[in-house]
Amino acid sequence: MSKRFYITTPIFYVNGAPHIGHAYTAIAADVLARWKRLDGYEVFFLTGTDEHGQKVEKAAREAGVDPQAFTDTVSADFRDMAARMNVSNDDFIRTTEPRHYASCTELWRRLVANGHIYEGFYEGWYAVRDEAFYGEDELIIAPDGGRVAPSGAPVEWVREPSYFFRLSAWQDKLLAFYAANPDFIAPHARRNEVLSFVRGGLTDLSVSRTSFRWGVPVPGDPAHVMYVWLDALTNYITAAGFPDESAERWAFWPADVHIVGKEIVRFHAVYWPAFLMAAGLAPPRRVFAHGWWTAEGEKMSKSLGNVIEAREVAETFGLDALRYFLLREVPFGNDGDFSRRSLITRLNDELANDLGNLAQRTLAQVARNLGGCCPARTPATEEDAALLAAGAALPATLRERLDRQALHEALEDVWKVIRAANVYIDRQAPWALRRTDPPRMAAVLRVLVDVLRDVATVLQPFMPASMARLLDQLGVPTEARDLASLATPLTDGTALPPPQGIFPRYADPVA
Ligand code: MSP
Repeated sequence: MSKRFYITTPIFYVNGAPHIGHAYTAIAADVLARWKRLDGYEVFFLTGTDEHGQKVEKAAREAGVDPQAFTDTVSADFRDMAARMNVSNDDFIRTTEPRHYASCTELWRRLVANGHIYEGFYEGWYAVRDEAFYGEDELIIAPDGGRVAPSGAPVEWVREPSYFFRLSAWQDKLLAFYAANPDFIAPHARRNEVLSFVRGGLTDLSVSRTSFRWGVPVPGDPAHVMYVWLDALTNYITAAGFPDESAERWAFWPADVHIVGKEIVRFHAVYWPAFLMAAGLAPPRRVFAHGWWTAEGEKMSKSLGNVIEAREVAETFGLDALRYFLLREVPFGNDGDFSRRSLITRLNDELANDLGNLAQRTLAQVARNLGGCCPARTPATEEDAALLAAGAALPATLRERLDRQALHEALEDVWKVIRAANVYIDRQAPWALRRTDPPRMAAVLRVLVDVLRDVATVLQPFMPASMARLLDQLGVPTEARDLASLATPLTDGTALPPPQGIFPRYADPVA
């Protein structure tokens, strides 16, 4: 089994500022990347910015700035957002970098050499907001009676010379590929959408534009720039070293999973494998599509002024509370609503209370009654054994969940153990044992320390900073925080630092 893992986020359009939807994609991918590292994999985790195309060019024009200067600024803002979300990406790609031009150019050359590209003339509908072409039959009637893209984006009629990719020739090959790789598209509903789209027949795809300049020039015909989606998708191989197939990083290709939003599945699950196979390259192993967030029940939009900025939320509630909320509130793959109320409830009930209090109660008793030294392991009673077994089962359970990107299930599994530990501490009542049976009190506290260590270890990918603090307080050395280290028990008698709360309760000033 290869112990390498390559995971990506979509690269973000730089036509506007980052918001909670972008942070969501990046945080979810970050949890999966961190999990694999914790499980001993060599991980390559990529994010970045998608900087070409008409939409970005238009935004730059409206800002009165030249496109390169404009994208420099907005790309830096996305980079800052990722860093502030504690996203542990190994590389940050910008499609305006020379390495990416080299990669797109070579991919194009291979497509031409293999006979998949021909010159023609495009006449049809285009939605700049989606950077997508639409067939007449795909358009829908807008509330004002005009015709718009299925996403609601305005469309314009385009007539221009264009190169085409022979997508029509890929229908059977793609269907055979999906059949041979039933896990290629997840969740299941998305897979069905893609299958019916492809079964419905594919038309050739316009892959170059001549009506604007902001893109990668077509090799040998600089009047054309490449279609922004061909350019954008190629980022995933650029960062892996393409076209240098002897590069060390190339060993990471094909990517294990592309995390994407549901609205861009078609590009990743239809066009992208077709481009790659046509160029003689391996397609990615999996595309997972997550849902969309609304804000307090409304679609987020600049005009409504309700766009949620992840960095602001993290300032107010704490970054790890935000990370936890985003992944716990909504099954990964479904749509969800971002509400301050629900975030506060989860922060107070699940983080401050269920987990924070459990840790505080346990560690405060160790500090007060045992001189702050980790009690020794003793033979387990039936109840001890049941709780210890539940904690010890977490790595295997989460491995199964996270291999399916079921992030919410993973958290629910951890919380089952946390809830069981709370029941255990209340039933064992170590505070009472302090007088009646001090050795048993020490034994109970040790069981709790061990379970807290399991919990904190597997939760690190979700809440890296807070779990690092908890592991510090549990006396777990930094080099013993991966899954493999859980096989080695904590050393009896280790001096633990004085406990400090990890999740302050949030008292809502407006409530
Ligand atoms: N540039 C393309 C992706 C190219 S990948 C080769 C793009 N960029 S985007 O900036 O518009 O979106 C990036 C990601 O943010 C997408 O996965 C999208 O689903 C996600 N989100 C944007 N708004 C969102 C919400 N309101 N909720 C959840 N995610 C959303 O598409």
